[in-house]
Amino acid sequence: MIKGIQKIFSEVADTYELVNHILTFGLDIYWRRKAAREAVKVGGRYWLDVCSGTGEMTQNLSRLANEEIKIISADFSYAMLAKALKKRNQTNVFFLEAEAKCLPFPGKTFDLVTISFATRNIDSNRQYLLSHLREFYRILKPGGHFVNLETSQPRSKFLRKAFHLYVKLAVKPIGSFLSGSKSGYSYLSFTIPRFYSSEELSSLLYQAGFSHVRYHQQLFGISAIHVATR
Ligand SMILES: C[S@@+](CC[C@H](N)C(=O)[O-])C[C@H]1O[C@@H](n2cnc3c(N)ncnc32)[C@H](O)[C@@H]1O
Repeated sequence: MIKGIQKIFSEVADTYELVNHILTFGLDIYWRRKAAREAVKVGGRYWLDVCSGTGEMTQNLSRLANEEIKIISADFSYAMLAKALKKRNQTNVFFLEAEAKCLPFPGKTFDLVTISFATRNIDSNRQYLLSHLREFYRILKPGGHFVNLETSQPRSKFLRKAFHLYVKLAVKPIGSFLSGSKSGYSYLSFTIPRFYSSEELSSLLYQAGFSHVRYHQQLFGISAIHVATR
């Protein structure tokens, strides 16, 4: 499964950002900025953006960080990291090829761990997702924040159906066409309707050990920003 997901992201790396911006009408850019502004409130010196892909979230964090803050941008796809590496003005960012489930850091290292649009990819089942959330908890300092930006489920039945229909009729075919990866966008669109609601994800975060879990739904719950404290 891991190898399969790694292969998908390596296949779509070149077109990943463009396809996202088109399919979300640019909202993904706005949501990452919002999540980053929320994330940096924790302060501290050591931040980690995990499953960082082409580094859009990392870049937002980097813009908001002072020169004392060190940011690590970690992903298991070299192709995605290579795109991130080409971005400019990131003197405080260090790149790392790593699997999110076993990060090469001692416990209580980071003040902040962020993840954007990747929790769905580590959710092959509930236990598997929980083991990743526990890993993020492990490497956070007490009082540190975990910030999760991910697609969610609108509460309104009508909007939920409309959103899932959009994913089926637009995300899959347009994503496949623009990226040239049919399997990639079949997989990505498969995961969206199956992912947790904001309430379910909060409950998983509590199960992983976090406290003070709160969330801000975006656009009627199409996506959500969760903030949890270790
Ligand atoms: C949908 S992209 C999101 C990228 C970026 N965070 C963003 O906001 O666009 C998911 C990323 O997570 C990475 N990824 C998925 N599972 C992973 C894992 N188990 N360990 C490390 N990286 C993983 C993929 O390689 C991919 O770059």
